[in-house]
Amino acid sequence: MNEMFRAIATLYGQFSISAAELDAVADRFAVEMESGLMGLPSRLKMLPSFIDAPSGQETGEYLALDFGGTNLRLLAVLLEGNRKARVLRQKSWPLHDPESGVDLAASSMSGDALFDSIASAIGEFAPTGEWQLGHTFSFPCRQVTANKAELIRWTKEVRTAGVEGKDITSLLTDALASRGLNRIKPVVVINDTVGAYLTAAYAGEGVVAGAICGTGHNVAYLEPEAHGGRMVINMESGNFDPGMGTAFDAALDKSSEKPGEQLLEKQVSGRYLGELFRLVLISLSNAKILQFNSDRISQPYSLPTEMMSSLLTDESSALLRIGDFCRDLLELETALAERRVVKTTAVLIVTRSARLTAAALLGVLRRLDPSMTARQMIAVDGSLYERMPGYRETIERALVRHLPLAAARTCLVKDGSGIGAAVAAAISSSRR
Ligand code: BGC
Repeated sequence: MNEMFRAIATLYGQFSISAAELDAVADRFAVEMESGLMGLPSRLKMLPSFIDAPSGQETGEYLALDFGGTNLRLLAVLLEGNRKARVLRQKSWPLHDPESGVDLAASSMSGDALFDSIASAIGEFAPTGEWQLGHTFSFPCRQVTANKAELIRWTKEVRTAGVEGKDITSLLTDALASRGLNRIKPVVVINDTVGAYLTAAYAGEGVVAGAICGTGHNVAYLEPEAHGGRMVINMESGNFDPGMGTAFDAALDKSSEKPGEQLLEKQVSGRYLGELFRLVLISLSNAKILQFNSDRISQPYSLPTEMMSSLLTDESSALLRIGDFCRDLLELETALAERRVVKTTAVLIVTRSARLTAAALLGVLRRLDPSMTARQMIAVDGSLYERMPGYRETIERALVRHLPLAAARTCLVKDGSGIGAAVAAAISSSRR
């Protein structure tokens, strides 16, 4: 039993983030924002979008393409003006189709084949008519204009060959042309964080930033003075190094597709939390705190992050759901004390994720308004924020605790990648 307490105490020590540490991370984040904007070395890329804030009066019907690493989604979006937008219809395709075995995100897939599949889906979704298309492409891109963006590198373990370094709009336009789809005109390419911001800012006032807390992690915000004017900046904050990684984080990073990169993302995002959980469970097993015997858990990425939600909400006195989890997945009959260890592990990993996210948001707010006087709203999209139990509350509590005087809040934004792409298309078409 003592060993078990010791193991839990060690995990607390490794995964907890004190108020002082959170403050320090936020301050460092704000400093790196400044350096990135000035072109000095920084983990934050601070990428320009060449898109200003919307007025809320943009109108028109647009096609939106959302490519984020899990699905390919197409939407027909109507901007009605007066801050109202509607998704008229949508369809999505998984990048990895278990039936056919085709994986558009695999290294064996070429960029041309990927964009040809996208063009084919577009032809099927919009069989007739002329369309302006807004493209949400949720990866770090060096943006040259609002419609020209080179993929710097894949993240979220996507590996499709021959896309890094290429202009995404050219790849899409060429693929559309090969299929005779010249009636579809890609007019803008944005990051999903930019989409989250635009969607919320289209619908209401006071929004200063957009964040994604889902498969990936990132934040964009409205910078008053960048590249000659006001524009949304995609920080690529998933690449920030919070500097408090554990041995589990180091192991995950080492065996990842891009070691040394996306360190914050690897500690906070849905792509990785289940894997961190698995690594901690294995170490508890090696230390004989938990003893399981399952092939399933020896496979990397075999514990999906969503599974952790049901463990977090097990409030039964005997932790029955966690007992089932251990039986089904770990092939382990557990005593209550062991189930407590499993639950505590999940809680610690998820809470750390939410607190590190809060630290990043705090960094943005501090830079935007050091005196913390204005009302600030950060729009957030993504499965962790929307569905992971307690996640949103943990972020909010941290913001209130660290910004006692400011009315800074977060709000959920839905369909940010679809509506945001339409808003961006409207803004950039009106400029041409
Ligand atoms: C990408 C970002 C994206 C985020 C959320 C990260 O892996 O680098 O561009 O915004 O995921 O989808």
